[in-house]
Amino acid sequence: MTKGLILSGGWGTRLRPLTCTIPKTLIPVGNKPVIERQMELLKSAGVKEIVLAVSVMSEYLKNYFGDGERLGIKIHYTNEQSPMGTAGALKLAEIFLKNDNFFMLNGDVILNFNFKEMLRVHENFEGIGTIASRQVEDPSRYGVLIIDEESQKILKFLEKDEFDSGEHGEGTMPVNAGVYILEPEVFSYIEPHRKLSIERDIFPKLAAAKNLHHYPITGIWKDIGKPYELLNGNILLMKDILEKSPNSENIIEKNVDIHDSVKIYPPVSIGENTVIRQDCSIGPDAVIGNNVYVEEGCSISESLIYDEVYISKNVMIKNAIIADNCLVRKRAKLEGNKENLVILADHVQINEEIKIIAPKDRSLTVCHHEVVKEDIE
Ligand code: GTP
Repeated sequence: MTKGLILSGGWGTRLRPLTCTIPKTLIPVGNKPVIERQMELLKSAGVKEIVLAVSVMSEYLKNYFGDGERLGIKIHYTNEQSPMGTAGALKLAEIFLKNDNFFMLNGDVILNFNFKEMLRVHENFEGIGTIASRQVEDPSRYGVLIIDEESQKILKFLEKDEFDSGEHGEGTMPVNAGVYILEPEVFSYIEPHRKLSIERDIFPKLAAAKNLHHYPITGIWKDIGKPYELLNGNILLMKDILEKSPNSENIIEKNVDIHDSVKIYPPVSIGENTVIRQDCSIGPDAVIGNNVYVEEGCSISESLIYDEVYISKNVMIKNAIIADNCLVRKRAKLEGNKENLVILADHVQINEEIKIIAPKDRSLTVCHHEVVKEDIE
């Protein structure tokens, strides 16, 4: 029976300070941890047992998922003292995965495609692995796959820094989408007790031996590695949900109290028990969590706001991520730009009239429990 392995032990450095108090894969996307969405997809493909490869902040994951009973799957854990790399983590799971083929997923990717169909296609190939591939405009940010069109085999696997658009041409290219199906033979390629990367150390060898195929995927696909990707991932998921319910322009959850004078610019998503007082302007592209209170005259767009956040009167928020339990006082202004956001970790307090404006070339972050009393620009 096909099992699943989800990698969930990385440091998540690029998402700091959000990942100082929660592992990256437990960060909610559309009110549910990104990794829980993956587990549901695996389950819908018939997977009944999942190994979580954990390391950094492993207790958080163990407390959240336990043995998997709530989700109706059996969850095993492998624990690395410190991260062993993606292949090192896989090798530790050999004991659970040695008898049959299995899915392996990077735990920080939002996606929604038919895993069952991928398994069917994999089982028709001869080889050790199938990599889900995705066509992208800007391949240099990902692991690029050079594919033999006739056989659909992967001829070369180029990591981010190895791709040269001069050699391979411009335009869209298939990249590694972070979902694989592997046969147990893969374990013979991984030396035990070593920190190894599946992308750098193992896939190039499997590709050279003509043992890797690809499986093109479509639909929503976004990793949440960087803050603006986390924001965009939430927005994409919101749009994906709205596309499937053509009568709604916005997602408004239960028990929401929005004053009649509020202007909503779709798409927006507003979580349970959230209150939005008069003369606010919300959206476009605003994802607001549960139990958030927004006082009069605020403007919120292109931003992600988690739960239990309090926003006082006349606050302006654009291109920002605000984690749980923050307090933003009157007339504060938080403004980033498309790739460089203002990021408040949990329990931050922003004092009255404070301005935090991200420069063009980097995000501005505030660590958890800080009280900001002076402008940051
Ligand atoms: P950055 O530090 O921001 O690069 O994040 P990261 O450490 O999470 O690395 P990356 O984004 O490349 O990881 C992709 C997925 O693999 C995530 O779900 C990580 O949790 C996981 N991962 C990365 N390295 C390891 C590791 O050494 N061990 C385990 N168990 N998982 C890992």
